[in-house]
Formats: sequence, C-alpha cells, structure tokens
Amino acid sequence: MSITNFEDRRVIVCCGSGGVGKTTISAGIALALANNGARVAVVTIDPARRLASALGLETLGDEPRQVDIGPTGTRGELWALQLDAKATFDRLVRRHAPSPEAEQRILDNRIYEHLSGAVAGSQEYMAVERLNELTDDPRFEVIVLDTPPAQNALDFLDAPTRITHFIEGKSLRMLLSPGAAAGHLGWKVLHAGSSTVFSILERVTGAQLLRDLSEFLAAFDGMYSGFSERAERVRALLHSPRAAFVVVSSADDEPVREAVMLVERLTHDHYPLGPAVMNRVRQRAECDPPPRDALIEAYADAGAVHPQDLADRTLAQLAEDDARARRDHDACARLARLLGDRAPLEVPDFADEPVEIAGLEHVADALAP
Ligand SMILES: Nc1ncnc2c1ncn2[C@@H]1O[C@H](COP(=O)(O)OP(=O)(O)OP(=O)(O)O)[C@@H](O)[C@H]1O
Ligand SMILES: [Mg+2]
Repeated sequence: MSITNFEDRRVIVCCGSGGVGKTTISAGIALALANNGARVAVVTIDPARRLASALGLETLGDEPRQVDIGPTGTRGELWALQLDAKATFDRLVRRHAPSPEAEQRILDNRIYEHLSGAVAGSQEYMAVERLNELTDDPRFEVIVLDTPPAQNALDFLDAPTRITHFIEGKSLRMLLSPGAAAGHLGWKVLHAGSSTVFSILERVTGAQLLRDLSEFLAAFDGMYSGFSERAERVRALLHSPRAAFVVVSSADDEPVREAVMLVERLTHDHYPLGPAVMNRVRQRAECDPPPRDALIEAYADAGAVHPQDLADRTLAQLAEDDARARRDHDACARLARLLGDRAPLEVPDFADEPVEIAGLEHVADALAP
C-alpha cells in the first residue's frame, strides 16, 4: 500500500484527533505525491502556523505559494496555503454580488463583518468554498486538506448546510427583509400578533443593527442559490471517488478509538476512505540487546565508574523501548482489524521532528515506500 495509489484523487482530506500529526502527514502526503510527479497544493484550515513551520516557511497566506522541493526532473510541484476565511468570503462576494453597488453594500455591512469573521462554522464553510476554488484551479492536480484540531474532526463537512441555513435564515428573512415588509406573512404576523418581538429586538440590538441586518439580507438576495449550489458541489466532490479521506492516528488508546469512530462515521455517511495512517510508530530494534556481562565489560573498558549500574540502566531502557515498540505494533494490528483488515500506513516516530522538506522526505518515504 502506498499513498501514491491515490494520486488520481482530486482531494485528500486528512483528519484525526488532536495532535496525532495531521498537519505533518498532510505535508508528507503532498510531498510524496509531488515527488511522484503530481502538481499538489496542501491547504490548512488551522490558523496556527503549523503547516508553515512544518514546511520550513516563515509564513503562509491565502494565496498558494510554491515550496522549493529541490531539483525538479520528474518531480511535480508542491504548493501550500493557509485558509483566510475573511479573504475567501470577500472574494466570494466580489464574484457573485449582482452589482458593484450590492458588492459594496455587503462589504461595508457590519453584519457581514460579523458573519465573515465570527459566525460559528464560517471558518469551516470558507474551507469548503476554498476547496471549490482550488479544485477549479488548473495549477493543481491534487489538493491535500489539513483539518483543524477540532473536537469534532468532521465538523467542517456539516458547515455548508449550517451556514446556508443561517444565510437563508428563513425565519430571520421573514421577519426582517424588505420583501416581508411589503406585505408577506411574516411581517404581518409580527406586527399584528407580536409587535413586542420587534421592539425587544430593536431595544436589544439597536435600530442600526437591525437596519444592517435587513440590508444585508437584501443585498444577499440572489446569492443564496450560488451558496447552496457550491456547497452541493463540494458535498458531491467529497462523496465521489475523486476524494479520499485519510484518518490519522497515533498508537495511544484514545486516538485509536477516535480513528475507528471517524472511519465508522465516514463510512456511514458514504465518504470515500483512503488508507489510514498510524503515525509515530516506534520501531523494534533490529537485534537483541547485548548480554549484560559484555555490556558491563564494555562500559568498564570505556572507563565508567559504575559499569554495572550503567549496564542495568541501559538494559532497562532498551526493554522499555522494546515494550513500547511492541505496543505500537499491536496498536497497528488492532487498528487494521477494526478497519476490516486494512493495514494502516505506518510512519515511524522520528527522533528529530520531521520539519522542512528534508525532514518531511522521511514522512513521504514512509507513506510511499
Ligand atoms: N512521525 C513523527 N515523528 C516525530 N515527530 C512527529 C511525527 N509526526 C508529528 N510529529 C510532531 O508532533 C507534533 C504534532 O504534529 P502535528 O502538528 O502534525 O499534529 P496535528 O495532528 O496537526 O496537531 P493539531 O491537532 O494540533 O493540528 C509536531 O511537533 C510534529 O513535528
Ligand atoms: Mg494540525
């Protein structure tokens, strides 16, 4: 099994519980595919600068930046970017606003500022929008997506539905849109039955905010179908054989449990699975530990003051390392069993943090042996 078997995929999504190495593995997958000749963009939703530092870069922005992976030859290209939700949202408005006036009204609107920056899920939603843009970008053949350290690692998959609901905000629109004011049911009900609702809202939020909201919804009129359409496109892409979800785990019990749950949820929701990755697998030593006597003698020859003590501590450490390595090996076997006998790709626990291209090459090698 090799990650390069998945090169025909348009999108590879790395997910898994916090700290297991999603960002490192995303970068490693992207590098492995680039080494194999593909033009790859790796994109992170995580606002922490982890991807940049893994790639040995000072910064990453919303615009894809090409990473130097050494002599090209048969190699492809590696690009990287970090999601900027606000920039993506602004671009979206520019592209889809019905007129320049509507565009300006939206961009200047305070509700918009709030929505594009802070509404729950907008970050994830913009990731989905950005995926759309990137898959349309002829520079890239494969997009590798590094998901954030979320409690619910797959939250971002629900984001399109959540945010389109918010924007379509049926109840909100009924109450506040100028269309409603012109005589639709919502407005009438509001005024006839519960005028207090409006006045309370007004008192709580301030008249200007209500006006902003009403204007915002009006300005977005005509863009709703675009939102739903694009959300639907990404949903379809992520469910198609052109996508692959790579679940990353470490050998500890909790991440393994979570990885299995993730795989179950992805399977249940009909998302296409790529290989699972077991990261930071400690390797068993290739030979047996030296006999105690020989070790004591060697330490004594080297001038150690307490050669016996040193030998015992060395052997204890070697035994502990071996026990850990066995445990990691068992965890791989358990994960394989739980995934229906599909062995995960194993990435060793490197003594040096696998950063910069030189370090990531080791990760790429493990993923594409
Ligand atoms: N195979 C490995 N060997 C040694 N160190 C590793 C390995 N994989 C990852 N690390 C290190 O572990 C730390 C966490 O890795 P990483 O940031 O990729 O995890 P993550 O799952 O993306 O975390 P988060 O959930 O916070 O986004 C980093 O310091 C990284 O360099
Ligand atoms: Mg990360």
